[in-house]
Amino acid sequence: MRISVVGLGKLGSPLAAVFAAKGFHVIGTDLNPAAVAAINAGRAPVDEPGLQDLITASAGRLSASDDAVSIVSDSDATFIIVPTPSDSTGKFSNDYALKAMATVGQGIRRKDGYHLVVMTSTVMPGSTGGELREALERHSGRTLGPSLGLCYNPEFIALGSVVRDMLRPDMILIGESDTNAGDRLESIYRQSCDNTPAFRRMNFVNAELTKISVNTFVTTKISYANMLADICDRLPGADVDVVTHAVGADSRVGVKYLRGATGYGGPCFPRDNVAFAALARTIGANPELAEATDRVNRYQIERVLGAIQARMQEHGTIGILGLSYKPDTAVVEESQGVAVAERLLADGHTVVAYDPKALTAAQTQLRGRLKEAETAEACARAADLVLVMTAWPAFRTVAAAAFERPGRRMTVIDCWRILPADVRDVADVVYIGQGGSVPIASLV
Ligand SMILES: NC(=O)c1ccc[n+]([C@@H]2O[C@H](COP(=O)([O-])OP(=O)(O)OC[C@H]3O[C@@H](n4cnc5c(N)ncnc54)[C@H](O)[C@@H]3O)[C@@H](O)[C@H]2O)c1
Repeated sequence: MRISVVGLGKLGSPLAAVFAAKGFHVIGTDLNPAAVAAINAGRAPVDEPGLQDLITASAGRLSASDDAVSIVSDSDATFIIVPTPSDSTGKFSNDYALKAMATVGQGIRRKDGYHLVVMTSTVMPGSTGGELREALERHSGRTLGPSLGLCYNPEFIALGSVVRDMLRPDMILIGESDTNAGDRLESIYRQSCDNTPAFRRMNFVNAELTKISVNTFVTTKISYANMLADICDRLPGADVDVVTHAVGADSRVGVKYLRGATGYGGPCFPRDNVAFAALARTIGANPELAEATDRVNRYQIERVLGAIQARMQEHGTIGILGLSYKPDTAVVEESQGVAVAERLLADGHTVVAYDPKALTAAQTQLRGRLKEAETAEACARAADLVLVMTAWPAFRTVAAAAFERPGRRMTVIDCWRILPADVRDVADVVYIGQGGSVPIASLV
């Protein structure tokens, strides 16, 4: 089977490489010539752990072209993975997807035989069976049925573990135009996955709703854990890790993502949550839970700033460890570390920062106003107060000596409770989610 992939970005290039590594002949395309050139040179177009190894292992089966129409007509199945940016109402725009669909349709018009089109980009419920289907049928000159199949098949991956998540997914979600289209897509994944995932096959609208529901459920869980951490901050003797560890042991709850710390960020969680609320509002359903999840998430920025203000009344230099929205990625979209840095800079503080991958991207967002440190220790040494915003594994072994100050103890606010224990020997470490400031007598 020959597979074409339209869009070789953060998701498209790993997907193309996974299929090629598993024996499919894959040809990709992208409007960005650098992505096409990278694939043809055997280089990963994006920085993602494991991607380069897969591309190297796929030599001879993976290539790219700027002729999008031809790659479609020369293949049996096409995956579309282009951006679907949020519009001013919070819904996802189909503009890129519709343009891609037009090109794909032209490619199908040129060929004989069955073709399967797979929409992988996240879209609003109603899109696949509505304007995307209409565009595909119009441009290909075919109707969905014996010679043309359409599936909605979003990925459930996290940046930093995209390759692993694609090779070992919990679930493959397929919205299908008919059983034949779904069977063909399922057989691709049975060949490309290292595990045997659950397959959930359904109509388009159920699949579209499932995709944003999964992410919205997880964001609700994160905001719930952060609400618990806020309570633990104030409750003498309370420790959010002890509570979430026990709450998560209940199989109805589970421990994953139940970790009180900073708010969620990145290119998916915040906007999927907002889109879910926008969908509910548009159709007259109650959006309150999704809206509250978003409000609680934004409140985490205020919580961190409040913790700083309580301990630092004068302007000074604040060291931030971690600016990416999560570890193992350079992405800073909707990063709470960057949001906190922005507010501290606006308040007149100096901000010195260290991040293993995201400093350049953060500097771009913050218009070059950060002082850059080359190591976590250098960041700590340059600061009056240190804040840990991202749970990079490297922060677990940072040298305690970097926090030592002659004749006094500096304050360290560790939102992820990951710094080594010996930092407490030389500095006052505030663990977010461990309380508390409210006198016990006022509680009962
Ligand atoms: N990044 C994530 O964590 C993630 C997770 C789940 C779902 N998604 C969804 O996947 C989709 C893609 O996300 P991404 O992170 O890979 O985006 P991205 O911006 O990294 O990549 C998209 C690529 O598509 C290319 N492109 C746009 N229009 C094109 C066209 N007509 N023909 C060829 N190439 C075209 C762009 O040049 C870009 O390289 C979005 O809908 C996103 O919501 C992303």
